Amino acid sequence: MIKIGLLGLGTVGSGVYKIMENNYENIKNKVGTALEIKKILVNDIDKQRELQVDRSLITSNYREILEDPEINLVVELIGGEEPAHKYIIEALKNKKSVVTANKLVIAKHGNEILSLAREKEVQISYEGSVAGGIPIIRPLKESLAANRIDEIYGILNGTTNYILTRMAGEKLEFNKVLQEAIKQGYAESDPTSDISGLDAAYKISILASLAFETFIDVNRVYVEGIENISLRDIELAEELGYVIKLLAIGKKENDGLDIRVHPSFIPRKHPLALIDDVYNAVYIHGDAVGDVMSTGRGAGQMPTGSAVVADIIQVARDIHNKRLTPNLLESFQNYKLKNIEEVENCFYLRIQVKDKPGVMSRVTKILGDNRVSLASVLQKHRLTPVVPLILITHPVKEKYINQSLEELRQLDDVITINNIIRVEESS
Ligand SMILES: NC(=O)c1ccc[n+]([C@@H]2O[C@H](COP(=O)([O-])OP(=O)(O)OC[C@H]3O[C@@H](n4cnc5c(N)ncnc54)[C@H](OP(=O)(O)O)[C@@H]3O)[C@@H](O)[C@H]2O)c1
Repeated sequence: MIKIGLLGLGTVGSGVYKIMENNYENIKNKVGTALEIKKILVNDIDKQRELQVDRSLITSNYREILEDPEINLVVELIGGEEPAHKYIIEALKNKKSVVTANKLVIAKHGNEILSLAREKEVQISYEGSVAGGIPIIRPLKESLAANRIDEIYGILNGTTNYILTRMAGEKLEFNKVLQEAIKQGYAESDPTSDISGLDAAYKISILASLAFETFIDVNRVYVEGIENISLRDIELAEELGYVIKLLAIGKKENDGLDIRVHPSFIPRKHPLALIDDVYNAVYIHGDAVGDVMSTGRGAGQMPTGSAVVADIIQVARDIHNKRLTPNLLESFQNYKLKNIEEVENCFYLRIQVKDKPGVMSRVTKILGDNRVSLASVLQKHRLTPVVPLILITHPVKEKYINQSLEELRQLDDVITINNIIRVEESS
């Protein structure tokens, strides 16, 4: 018998509890011994809960779990940074294995947590922390272990994907869709972490750490959200043969790792362009396997519960068989993280210029002087005295685009720079 302490009985915690009850015999057979949830930590013990749980299991005192010598597996589903981080550390110090779905804690404190797990010779697993029910962490560690992975592209945030899909499908502006998404429960009442790209940054840091076998400092990952994407950009992308997605990108290049999150134009025919609504997807390139894509629901009670219980089964099996799966740290190396200024991309620029002779040549001269060459130019809807210019560049380092923009802003002919969006031609 393996005794489990569950921290949190919210959306995912309840899903885990239900799966473990409903599939009790099946899970017992897979582990080789029964699993018992001995205690459950919550914030408010008097809260009315839909889930029927024996009251004697519930506590608001974390010591009843973290200091119980009978509990050898702690499942953290509280969320947020603290006290979740503190409880994970405490559990590991007390030689308890830990399963968590907490992307924030793993992205920010993965180094400390993995080191401590190694020192204490216990397991740490976090499949549920990225892309909910889509199996991605174990496949990266195990099924794709034969490969050198050089690229990962992810649509890792369901809320932003839902918003971009509705903007494109129903021709709506960002704020209108966001407000409706909050009302309908597709977005949190405070959607900042999703909209700003931060949530996806935590997730790509975790995936890139595993894929490239190194620590990624999430604070150094370049992040840009979708708040500046307008319907006009989406329509122009469509006209040019692209869709706009919030992409999380990890690339291993000769001069370092390129890890970033930002909206991107992706070719309409690319498999990721078809991932709509709240769906997530991860697209990986390995030297042996080639391209692989996994897709599914990136959140929700039962999909995430499925990933967490899979981790519980794996870790419980190891505990039961007194086996220690090798700690990921064994294979980790140090790589330089590239500065965004050194990253090369194609760019979409939407600017408004005065309708005067010679404007186009003055704009292209500034771009050319800064090593930016153009792949295409669209001059739309002549609204004299203002001309919208839509430019797509050839690949160029970000620093040259930034220098050009600085000079374009000084140019009397340029009224506004409406938007700049990276174009992922290689993805
Ligand atoms: N929801 C998803 O679809 C999803 C998907 C992927 C990953 N995740 C991750 O899964 C984790 C849990 O998310 P969730 O959506 O299940 O959260 P949630 O619904 O807000 O549930 C949180 C649970 O933790 C308890 N709790 C909160 N603060 C506590 C504290 N200081 N001390 C003791 N208990 C505390 C709450 O107690 P009360 O019940 O008493 O309030 C509640 O039971 C997070 O790390 C999240 O990022 C969630």
